Amino acid sequence: MKTLIVYYSLGGTTRRLARQLAEKLNADVSEIKCPRYGAGTLNYLRAGFDGARKFTPQIEMPKAPAGYDAVLIGGPVWVSTICAPLRSYLSSRPSFPEKIGLFLTSGGGAPQTNAVAHASELAPVPFAATLVLKDSTVKANGAKAEIDRFVQEIGAAFIRPGVSG
Ligand SMILES: Cc1cc2nc3c(=O)[nH]c(=O)nc-3n(C[C@H](O)[C@H](O)[C@H](O)COP(=O)(O)O)c2cc1C
Repeated sequence: MKTLIVYYSLGGTTRRLARQLAEKLNADVSEIKCPRYGAGTLNYLRAGFDGARKFTPQIEMPKAPAGYDAVLIGGPVWVSTICAPLRSYLSSRPSFPEKIGLFLTSGGGAPQTNAVAHASELAPVPFAATLVLKDSTVKANGAKAEIDRFVQEIGAAFIRPGVSG
C-alpha cells in the first residue's frame, strides 16, 4: 500500500503525529504551507478569526496524490472546525485515491464532531478512518492503541478475503 501523508501544522503537534504515522505506514510525507499564519498572538487571533468565517487562505500545495493507494490528511482543529489551510487544501479538490483518512489534533481532544463533519463535507469520498488526538497526548507520545487502530483501519481497507500481502 503506497501511502501519502499530507498535513498542515502551525505549532508542530500535527507534524509530530504525521511523522509517527509515516513511520508506522512507511508513508511519504508532504506538508501544506500557508504563509498567512506564523507565531505570535496576533497570528493566533487571525487564525481563529479565519476559522470562524470559514476563510480559505492561499496555500502552497503539497505533493499531488497521483500514484498513491491511500492519502492521510491531517491538521489542527481551529475554533471547533478544521484549520483554514486544510479547508483550502480539501476545497481545491485534489484527485484522491479511493482510500483517504483524516487525523486531527486539538486542545480539547476527541470527538471534535464539527471538525470531522466539515472535513467530510469537503472530501470527495468518505474517510476510511479518522483519528482525533489531544495535543498533550501527542506530545507525550501517548494513545498508541488509538494510533494502531487508525493504521489498521486504513490498512484493512486493502485486505480482501483470500488475498494476502
Ligand atoms: C487559532 C487556534 C484555534 C484553536 N481552536 C481550538 C478549538 O476550537 N478546539 C480545540 O480543542 N483546540 C483548539 N486549538 C488548539 C489546537 O487545535 C491544538 O493545540 C493543535 O494540536 C495544534 O496543532 P499544531 O501544533 O499542529 O498547529 C486551537 C489552536 C489555534 C492556534
